[in-house]
Amino acid sequence: MKILGIESSCDETAAAVVENGRTVLSNAVATQIEEHKLYGGVVPEIASRRHAEAICPVVEKALRDSGCGFDDIDAIAVTYAPGLIGALLVGVNYAKGLSFTTGKPLIPVHHLRSHIASNYISHPELEPPFFCLVVSGGHTHMIEVSSYTDFRIIGRTHDDAAGEALDKAARAMGLPYPGGLNLDKTAQNGDSSKYKFPHPSVDGCPYDFSFSGLKTSVINTIHNAKQKGGEVDIENLGASFMSAVVDCLVKNVEKACADFGYDKVVLAGGVSANSVLRKRMKESCDRYSRKLFVPELKYCGDNAAMVGSQGYYEALSGNFAGLDLNAAATLPIDFKR
Ligand code: KG4
Ligand code: ZN
Repeated sequence: MKILGIESSCDETAAAVVENGRTVLSNAVATQIEEHKLYGGVVPEIASRRHAEAICPVVEKALRDSGCGFDDIDAIAVTYAPGLIGALLVGVNYAKGLSFTTGKPLIPVHHLRSHIASNYISHPELEPPFFCLVVSGGHTHMIEVSSYTDFRIIGRTHDDAAGEALDKAARAMGLPYPGGLNLDKTAQNGDSSKYKFPHPSVDGCPYDFSFSGLKTSVINTIHNAKQKGGEVDIENLGASFMSAVVDCLVKNVEKACADFGYDKVVLAGGVSANSVLRKRMKESCDRYSRKLFVPELKYCGDNAAMVGSQGYYEALSGNFAGLDLNAAATLPIDFKR
C-alpha cells in the first residue's frame, strides 16, 4: 500500500510517499526556519501563509521523486492534530481536496503518533509493544505503546516541554532559533560540571516532569552574571543545562521501564536529535540490558515520511476520516476517533 503523507503542524511543509509503512519512496520538506529566525521563534500567522504557498510544490515534488502519479497512491494521510491550528488547517484542507478529487481514502494522523512511527522507518525490525519517550517542542510524554494504534500515557510534563525549555534557555543565552539545535552544537565543547542546576521531580508523580524551574534557574544565572558586570560561558552553561534536562529524562525512563518491565526503549520527537540525550539514554539502556531505538537524524524533526508510516497502521486498523475532518490544536495521543 502506497500512502501520500502530508505534514504542516508547525514550521515545515512536508510531503512523502511511503510504502507499507516502512519504505520511504520520497520525502520532501520545505522549511521555514530562515524566516522565523528573524523573530526568534515560530510566528503562527507567517507559518500558515508559508504552508499555503509551499504545499502544492512540496506534494508535487514528493510524487515526482517517488516516481508515482496520483493513480499509484492508495490513500492520503495527513497530520490533523496537535499543532498550530492555522498551520494544521492548510494540510488538512489540502488533503481533503485531494481525497475528494482523486477518490482516495483520507487517513487522519496524530502528530505524536507519527513521531513514534519515524522509528518504524529507521528500524524495520521494530514492533510494539515498547516504551517510548516523546520529546518535542510542545510535548514531553512517557508512553506505553502496546500496538501501532494503542497508547497509554504514564508520564508527562507539568509545565514546559523539554524542547520548549531548551529553546527558551538558548534564547536567553543569545543563541539563534532553532534554539535546541544551536544549544546542542554550542554545548559540544562545554564542560557540564561547571554550573550546578536543580534536578526537579514532581511530588507524588514519579513518572512526571517539571522543567520550568530549571529554565528559570538558567535565566537567573545569566541575569545575575550580567548584573555583576560579568559574563557567562555559554558553552559550559549550555552543557550544564542540557545535562540537567537529560538527567531528568533518563532517570524517569529508567524508573518507568523497571516498574513496567520494558526492555525496548524508543525515543521520538525533535529533541530525540539531541546528542547528549542519545548518548546518555544509550548508556542507560546498555547498563540495564535494554535495547534502544532512535530515529535517524533526518526523521527526528517534523517530516511527512513519518505521517505516511503511521498512516499505514491507522489504515490497517480501519481509521479513516470523512471530508468533514477538522484540525485540532490539542488532542491526546490516546484519543479514539
Ligand atoms: O518535533 P519537533 O520538530 O516539533 C514539534 O513537534 O514540536 O520538535 C522541535 C523541538 C524544538 O524545541 C527544537 O529546539 C528541538 O526539537 N530540537 C532539539 C534538537 N533538534 C531539535 N533539541 C535539542 N537538541 C537538538 N539537537
Ligand atoms: Zn513534531
